[in-house]
Amino acid sequence: MRSRLRSLRLAGLVLLALVLSACQLIAPDVEDAPLNSLDPKGPFARQIDSLFWPVFWIAVGIFFLVQLAIIAAAVFFRDRPGRKEAKQIHGNAKLEVIWTVIPALILATIAVPTVRTVFDLTECSPDAMRIEVIAHQWWFEFRYSNIEGIPDGAEIETANSMVIPADEEVCAVLSSEDVIHNFWVPKLNGKRYLIPGQEQVLRLQADEPGTYYAHCAEYCGLSHSLMRAHVVAVAADDFDAWIARQLEPAAVPEEGTPADEGLQVFLNAGCVQCHSVDFADNDRNVPDNIIARETFNGPNLTHFSDQYRTMFAGATLPEAGEDYDTALKRWLADPPSVKPGSYMPDLGLTEAEIDNLIAWLKTLE
Ligand code: CUA
Repeated sequence: MRSRLRSLRLAGLVLLALVLSACQLIAPDVEDAPLNSLDPKGPFARQIDSLFWPVFWIAVGIFFLVQLAIIAAAVFFRDRPGRKEAKQIHGNAKLEVIWTVIPALILATIAVPTVRTVFDLTECSPDAMRIEVIAHQWWFEFRYSNIEGIPDGAEIETANSMVIPADEEVCAVLSSEDVIHNFWVPKLNGKRYLIPGQEQVLRLQADEPGTYYAHCAEYCGLSHSLMRAHVVAVAADDFDAWIARQLEPAAVPEEGTPADEGLQVFLNAGCVQCHSVDFADNDRNVPDNIIARETFNGPNLTHFSDQYRTMFAGATLPEAGEDYDTALKRWLADPPSVKPGSYMPDLGLTEAEIDNLIAWLKTLE
């Protein structure tokens, strides 16, 4: 008896630990439970929510009815001395029809709004703003082109933060450059796969400006749990201003400054094999457009320090409570130790080189 009580208590503790481990703070200055899918902040997430709750309450009602019936059957029809064998109903056609038809009717009732919602969420409105979302191991890239304010043939490439206008439908066009990933912004919509060689769409819309957390929701390798992103919804004017800023090339820093030293590290230490930067015309022999996409695609750094791009390394850094520069130092010193399996290698940079690199990265607003 005592040992059974002990194992029951142990099971209770394990369950509590499991429940509590789901409540984890994932970024600094974040409200609790940023990935709460029961807290919709836009029409598409609300569509799922208003389907979820009625189905949930129907299930709760059925659960209690079934439990009640089981308990009643066990209490009232239990075996007692002198009691005759109960009437057997095996093969009773009438009863079998009843308990087949009722669940079928309930399921059919739930299926109608479910199928309607599924189809409604699969197709973007034709006039929705289309933004490409490209998954990589282990970060999300966002590309903008053919949008008002972006000249023909021009493109904006950014990473970790997807900036969208608030209160407007955005059509995220999903694809992957390596394996299967999944883009999930719980407060704005459900999950959708990013599949190499395929294009899926995901409708996103936020009622209000704000930061909405996204996470890769398909196991995609060693650092799957560190593949996150932000969807930053901003007012329409701020969005236009952001587009204009993103189209600006990066200025080449003045000669002899720490930022210039940092730029030299960037150009010579191997970073340009993966990272693209669009530099302004200059007389300093800095190539005006470094495009690394042909070799291996890492995040485009032209606007690394943009006001909305507040995190890096798959939007996992800085960690909650960590200073931005400290996190950046940690990252540049040895990326794979921060993000296991990271394709960004430890380049063996000295502390001075890292400090200068950070000084340069901060000019990329
Ligand atoms: Cu990408 Cu998991």
